Amino acid sequence: MDMRILTNMPMPARRFKQAALLLVAVGALLTVSACREDMQNQPKYVPLRESSFFPDQRSARLPVEGTIARGQLEDDSLLYTGKVDGKESAELPFAMTAADMQRGRERYNIYCSPCHSQLGDGNGMIVQRGFKKPPSYFEPRLVQAPIGHFFNVMTRGYGAMAEYSSQVPVADRWRIAAYIRALQLTQTAKGTDVPAGVTVASHAPTEGEAPKEAK
Ligand code: HEC
Repeated sequence: MDMRILTNMPMPARRFKQAALLLVAVGALLTVSACREDMQNQPKYVPLRESSFFPDQRSARLPVEGTIARGQLEDDSLLYTGKVDGKESAELPFAMTAADMQRGRERYNIYCSPCHSQLGDGNGMIVQRGFKKPPSYFEPRLVQAPIGHFFNVMTRGYGAMAEYSSQVPVADRWRIAAYIRALQLTQTAKGTDVPAGVTVASHAPTEGEAPKEAK
């Protein structure tokens, strides 16, 4: 018996296996490249590309009228407009905690104090350098204004003052409004406004320090 033939016996089988594998690999490659071809050359518009198909020639279509994005229903009129039945509200849309007031103060000092000053008298640094002076928050008209007025002014702007709705989110606008009310109280509150048993600090609470409450 020829020994060479014996040792070579498994070879054809192995070759066959290799050839089969190669075939599968080539086949797989072909399918993949075909996929890419399809997706690469699909009929699609590059964003905002002009279109001859639609009468208004815009490839980007507007959402169907009345479409509301998730989370943007804004059906809570008080929360989003500061108004109830078309009138500026005297109520807050949510209860203010000490943490909300701290946040309100922080946001106020960032966004409003450059003009209105940290005190609220309208004598901020930008005003000292020539910008129109806003009214002081201690003017009787503003002391008596419902809290919704402050929310509304921030949301829509007022005369020479720009609106802050894109920079200050809804809840923060309410926190600022509540803080302005607190600023007003620093000048208008009387001893009799303090509930029995509550100690009033002689200084404004510093960051992280909660107001003292009756035990
Ligand atoms: C760039 C300066 C500037 C900044 C910053 C600014 N304001 Fe004003 N604000 C004004 C001016 C000026 C007026 C007066 C506008 C007028 O009467 O034409 C005004 C008016 C107001 C009034 C009074 C509206 C009324 O009924 O008379 C309120 C309340 C108010 N601002 C709140 C805010 C709050 C809250 C912020 C921060 C989110 C803020 N402002 C940031 C300049 C500013």
